[in-house]
Amino acid sequence: MNRRYRKTIIAGNWKMNKTPSEAKALIEEMKGMLSKTKWCEVVLCVPFTDIQTAVKAAKGSKIAIGAENMHFEKSGAFTGEVSADMLKELGVKYVIIGHSERRQYFNETDETCNKKVKVAIENGLRPILCVGESLTEREQDVTMEVIRKQVKIALQGVTVDEAKKVVIAYEPIWAIGTGKTATSEQAGEVCAKIRDCLREMYGARAARAITIQYGGSMNAKNAAELLAQPDVDGGLIGGASLKAPDFAAIVDAANQN
Ligand code: 13P
Repeated sequence: MNRRYRKTIIAGNWKMNKTPSEAKALIEEMKGMLSKTKWCEVVLCVPFTDIQTAVKAAKGSKIAIGAENMHFEKSGAFTGEVSADMLKELGVKYVIIGHSERRQYFNETDETCNKKVKVAIENGLRPILCVGESLTEREQDVTMEVIRKQVKIALQGVTVDEAKKVVIAYEPIWAIGTGKTATSEQAGEVCAKIRDCLREMYGARAARAITIQYGGSMNAKNAAELLAQPDVDGGLIGGASLKAPDFAAIVDAANQN
C-alpha cells in the first residue's frame, strides 16, 4: 500500500452466492464488525438480485455496493443483461469488469472489457478491471506479456483523467478459489509491473494514483503481508468475503498503521 498517493480498496466479490435475505443478514453482521475503516474504502460486489437489498442494508456504513458485471450497451435486445444505467439508479458505485470466470465461462474478451470500462466510467461507475495469467502462462514465463495485453486493450481510448477512476485487480487464475495464494513477492512484482505499464500509458503522476488490488485466496491470515507490498493497494476477495469475521479482519489489516 502507499496511502500517500492512492486509496486502499478492500472489495468483496460474492460471485453467485447469497440470496437477498442472506445478503441483508451478512451485511448487518459485517457492519457491526468494521471498526477500523479510516484508511481504506470497503466495497461489496454482489449478485444483481442482491443489489437493492445490499444498498439499503449498507446505508449509513462505510460499505459501498458494486456489481459483478454489466453490459456495454445502454439498452435493447440483450436478454438477461443489465446496463450501467440500471446499476447506477440502484446506487451501485463499482462494477467488476472482465473477471477471469467471465472470460472463461462467458466468452468475455479484452475488447468487451474495453467497451465496458468506457461505459462504466461514462456513467460514473468505477470499474474494477480484472487481469491475470493462467498457471500454464506463468510456467511458460509469459505472465507480463499476457497482463500487459489485457491492461492495454481494456484501457484503449481511456483518457488520463478517466484512468484514475479505474481500479485494477491482479488475479492470477491459479490462485482463485484454490487456497493457493501468490506469495507476497509474486503479487508485489506483478502489481509493480502493472504500474510500469500504466506509467508508459499515462505518465508517472496518473500511474501512482491508480489503485491496484491483488485477488486470489486472500484471507485474514495472509492479507497483512500482501498489503505490505508497496504496489498492492488492496484486495479483491472471493471466499473470505462471505464470512463477516474474515472480511472484517482483512479490512483491519488494511487499516494498520
Ligand atoms: P477467492 O478469494 O475465493 O480465491 O476468489 C478471488 C476472486 O476471484 C475475487 O474476484
